[in-house]
Amino acid sequence: MSNIGSYEDRNKDFDWSLAEKELGYKDGDTINIGWYCSDRICEMGKADKTALIWEGLGGKEKSYTFNEIRLASNTIGAFLRELGIKAEDRVCLFMDKIPELYIGFLGVLKIGAIAQPLFSAFGDESLFVRLDNAKTSAIVTQRKHVAKVRKIIDKMPYLKHVIVVDDDGRKPLREREIAFSLENAVPVESIEIHPTKAESASVLHYTSGTTGQPKGVQHVHYSLISQYLTTKWVLDLQDDDIYWCTADPGWVTGTSYGIIGPWSLGVTQCVKDVGFSAVGWYEFIQKRKVTVWYSAPTAIRSLMKAGDEVVKKHDLSSLRHLASVGEPLNSEAVIWSEKVYGLPFLDTYWQTETGSMMLTNFPGMKVKPGSMGKPFPGITAAVLDAETFEQINEPGKVGLIGFKPGWPAMMRTYWNNEETYKGKFKNGWYLSGDRSSIDNEGYFWFTGRDDDVINTGGHLVSPFEVESALLEHEAVAESAVVAKPDEVNMEVVKAFVTLKPGFEASVDLELKIMNFIRKKLSPLAMPQEIEYVKSLPKTRSGKIMRRLLHAKEWGEEIGDTSTLEDDE
Ligand code: PRX
Repeated sequence: MSNIGSYEDRNKDFDWSLAEKELGYKDGDTINIGWYCSDRICEMGKADKTALIWEGLGGKEKSYTFNEIRLASNTIGAFLRELGIKAEDRVCLFMDKIPELYIGFLGVLKIGAIAQPLFSAFGDESLFVRLDNAKTSAIVTQRKHVAKVRKIIDKMPYLKHVIVVDDDGRKPLREREIAFSLENAVPVESIEIHPTKAESASVLHYTSGTTGQPKGVQHVHYSLISQYLTTKWVLDLQDDDIYWCTADPGWVTGTSYGIIGPWSLGVTQCVKDVGFSAVGWYEFIQKRKVTVWYSAPTAIRSLMKAGDEVVKKHDLSSLRHLASVGEPLNSEAVIWSEKVYGLPFLDTYWQTETGSMMLTNFPGMKVKPGSMGKPFPGITAAVLDAETFEQINEPGKVGLIGFKPGWPAMMRTYWNNEETYKGKFKNGWYLSGDRSSIDNEGYFWFTGRDDDVINTGGHLVSPFEVESALLEHEAVAESAVVAKPDEVNMEVVKAFVTLKPGFEASVDLELKIMNFIRKKLSPLAMPQEIEYVKSLPKTRSGKIMRRLLHAKEWGEEIGDTSTLEDDE
């Protein structure tokens, strides 16, 4: 029997207080995610249960019980406090998927500071704009990433501490840098949990928009209510499950469902800090006896490409439930997964801003391959007219996806950018920025984004950020960045550039520019193709018409360019 039972029944008289009751929370109480994910689980009698099974490069393994997670997060929290980190200070977690990332996240929350996880493959420029926006007080990182911090630290007087979790003493640390070893630190039995309340800030996740710098999506401790219940009902986690969320906590899936969801339910999860390979992934499932697997369409398509034979060579019989998020899950992938694993990947739709799942396929619900499913109980979702923001009731008609504000995990603002935050609401709806239709049975069908943001392999990349970085290359005069179709990643970054006088278009230069972006921003933001052009299409006022280039890439009708020019 699944946790949700009947979707229809759960929808009747649904109230989030149901999750509050299960978590023993009452309005006005202290609510601290760090405590809920470790101390409370121990108090419930699961202190010796395995919380984390970790596997790294070269077959390295580590395992932690809930009590060990509790102690280790206390230890990190106490260390940060000792350094002078106070409640609401921003602490960046800039690490690969190592245990310190997961445990550090809880430690930061326990002392009431705000966790700012950032993808460890970010280059110095991507890192800088996010730390600068948040005015981050401390960054917890690894030796291998310190060079990137050193490159920008002089521009960041507010960054008081650079904490290196794996310093081996071989290279001298510099000013503001300090070593901390979880293995060698004396475990702290108890620390005062900061009395955070429902509306206390918890996590700051950066996400990319079409224009301007990345936005810091600010969440609160009360988000736990949604994250707990969606994990329970959609991922269906039960006490004896071995759960694997493949997402990196540098992105919201890796925190909401790679830390908070499973651990607030006291469920064992495993983490693999090694890059993708089909064999590696199947071996992991087989060895760890993974039962519930939450992944992303690009990974699923890559597995599909690896073929059926490799599946047959592994014992994947432990799997009982699969779910996906991050980008459109094409129907072929759902049908294929049912064929080879005997289980369909169930699509879920949500965003950094929503903090928890919004549209989902539930265990037991009829799966329509290619559909995102239906709203989670308590979520009012609709498709809206793009001009009036009125609800469209006609099945099959495409409009903007809107949600009625008010679910617990909704972002509370964009950090230092209340104006953009307010702009996300129209006519009483939160606008997701995506488009879809609804069929006559209430299933949502994704049709596309309503902006120019590129979703590559489930990760959002701002064309503006890439264009700005391109302009910093000595050879580039002008640039325009759009999505280009890709079989596995769905979309990849493509750049059109004009060169400055004295520079010749060549493959060598293309590689140099690509590498420049990879190092400055990230491998994801790196254009997979650079097309040299003599000039870029522009509006009369001189703005580059990205949409025109996009349409060409996708073989779409370009339409009337005179109107394009006018409305730009
Ligand atoms: O465009 C939608 C797409 O990913 C965006 C959110 O990205 P991010 O904030 O990085 O969060 C990703 C993980 C929660 C959405 O606005 N997206 C997410 N899930 C789906 C999706 N597109 C289609 N189908 C989905 N299931």
